[in-house]
Amino acid sequence: MLNINNATKTFNPNSVNEVQALRGINLEVDKGDFITIIGSNGAGKSTFLNSIAGTFILSSGTISINGKDVTTWPEHKRARNLGRVFQDPLLGTCTSLTIEQNMAIALKRGKKRGLGLGVRAKDKLLFKEQLSTLGLGLENRLTDQVGLLSGGQRQALTMIMATMTSPDVLLLDEHTAALDPKTGQKILDITDTVVHRDELTTLMVTHNMNQAINMGNRLIMLHQGQIILDISGNEKKGLKVEDLLERFYTFRGENVASDRMLFS
Ligand SMILES: Nc1ncnc2c1ncn2[C@@H]1O[C@H](COP(=O)(O)OP(=O)(O)OP(=O)(O)O)[C@@H](O)[C@H]1O
Ligand SMILES: [Mg+2]
Repeated sequence: MLNINNATKTFNPNSVNEVQALRGINLEVDKGDFITIIGSNGAGKSTFLNSIAGTFILSSGTISINGKDVTTWPEHKRARNLGRVFQDPLLGTCTSLTIEQNMAIALKRGKKRGLGLGVRAKDKLLFKEQLSTLGLGLENRLTDQVGLLSGGQRQALTMIMATMTSPDVLLLDEHTAALDPKTGQKILDITDTVVHRDELTTLMVTHNMNQAINMGNRLIMLHQGQIILDISGNEKKGLKVEDLLERFYTFRGENVASDRMLFS
């Protein structure tokens, strides 16, 4: 359902600042796949997700979603089919608007919008119902400004907003990295519940190897803009952090013990 074919992305081509962030990525994602993505800083993980979202256009290669070639589609045109949650809780929502106004915008994502910020009574019911699944009491705070919420509450709200319209693909870029461990775990639990309930095709970037192993049905590792590991099914179920490190350093021809901090 999501096909990436020989994708490359070079920033600042033919200059001293040239960076080959993606170097020939091929990935076929089945409907309902939940793929965790790991790799060291600068490996190209965010660039990969951004290129799927259309934040920028690939230097070469193609991307298709549900059989449609979206390679040259701008970000706003792809938004209809995509849900996104970023690392920074400030990015997913609008601070000065209320919870219900933010949710109303999310509901209209990718569609023609009216100018008003009015929220229909029918939609309020839907928002309450969605928020109550979080167990955070946000369903009673529909008219509170989002700026009043904690980072974890905002991330939970963003998660609901990103998934409310059942997107074809859900993109999560280290979406719990800025949260304390307990809140982060709560957001991960919500992620797991929503993704499985709605059978969402999901790509989740994380620096936490245990999360990458324990969540989802497939794991890929990026290194210098290429996929160097792709593990799924039973092989993934039995995977241990040690195995991942072993395979990563074997790929690089290095001693396993040389640099364990890489993924910390
Ligand atoms: N807009 C940009 N302009 C120039 N270079 C960029 C741009 N975005 C990313 N890069 C470069 O592309 C490479 C890949 O960056 P990317 O952000 O995709 O890495 P990442 O795997 O997400 O890393 P991290 O784990 O630190 O988030 C890096 O060398 C980065 O400096
Ligand atoms: Mg990144």
